Amino acid sequence: MLLSFGFCYLYSVHGFTVFVGGLGVRLFPGVLVKLIGNHMTIESEEDVLALKRIGEIVSRVLQGVLDAAEPGMTTLELDSIGEQLLERYGARSAPRLAYDFPGSVCISINEEAAHGIPGSRVVRAGDVVNVDVSAELDGYFADTGGTTVVPPGSAQKTRLCHATRTALERAMKSAQAGRPVNVIGAAIQRTAKTYGFKIIENLCSHGVGRSLHEEPVSIPGYYDPTDRRVLSDGMVITIEPFLSTKSRVVTESPDGWTLLGARGNLSAQYEHTLIITRGDPIVVTQH
Ligand code: CO
Ligand code: CO
Repeated sequence: MLLSFGFCYLYSVHGFTVFVGGLGVRLFPGVLVKLIGNHMTIESEEDVLALKRIGEIVSRVLQGVLDAAEPGMTTLELDSIGEQLLERYGARSAPRLAYDFPGSVCISINEEAAHGIPGSRVVRAGDVVNVDVSAELDGYFADTGGTTVVPPGSAQKTRLCHATRTALERAMKSAQAGRPVNVIGAAIQRTAKTYGFKIIENLCSHGVGRSLHEEPVSIPGYYDPTDRRVLSDGMVITIEPFLSTKSRVVTESPDGWTLLGARGNLSAQYEHTLIITRGDPIVVTQH
């Protein structure tokens, strides 16, 4: 259910707290949360170029961290690779900037679905490792994410990653100006069903561009017929499906950051930042 109240939104999925996928905005049922009252709309070619610049940076950092993941490494060591890469490109970690996140990038392993904080956890063979990178350059923000399986993989893990990537591709194809926002969730839901996976319903896609999280906030990863919002030309959003083997919701770990599925759950996330147009979106992140 989505209640629009001027610039305030209250989003409640089956009574659970909703976490915006990239990090941070937590909307508690029964509490009105004031959010940023605007969203970025592309106004010039310079806006597009600036988003592509930061989009390329977060993509390179993501690839660098995913490629570095090896058995025996800690998530702290992986995070420091992300930190060095961001520094090299002159960009600032968006979750650190916006939420004082205790890391440069989010690294989430196996039952951890999102917002994993760097620490002493050791990467092991067969782990499903998700990395999410968002950063700022010259006042522009881009957000991207991807998942890798540390060898040896399994048929199920490969299929989970493939299905989630396919959900992202299909959702991006459907996202055109003039169409309802809920075509995104519909495409993700259809794909998850085809492959026999579940959707983590309280992790959402979101507006991005001039800050990490903007309107439209909480774009669900499933079809919500009550969502009346419409995609508009020049709108900047992320699409980030979270598919899982067991869990439909995540809960916050005692560390205050990491979002956990059920014991034994595996999930995958892939995320792009894109500009909505009347045709295919302009995707500013690449992988
Ligand atoms: Co993200
Ligand atoms: Co995001």
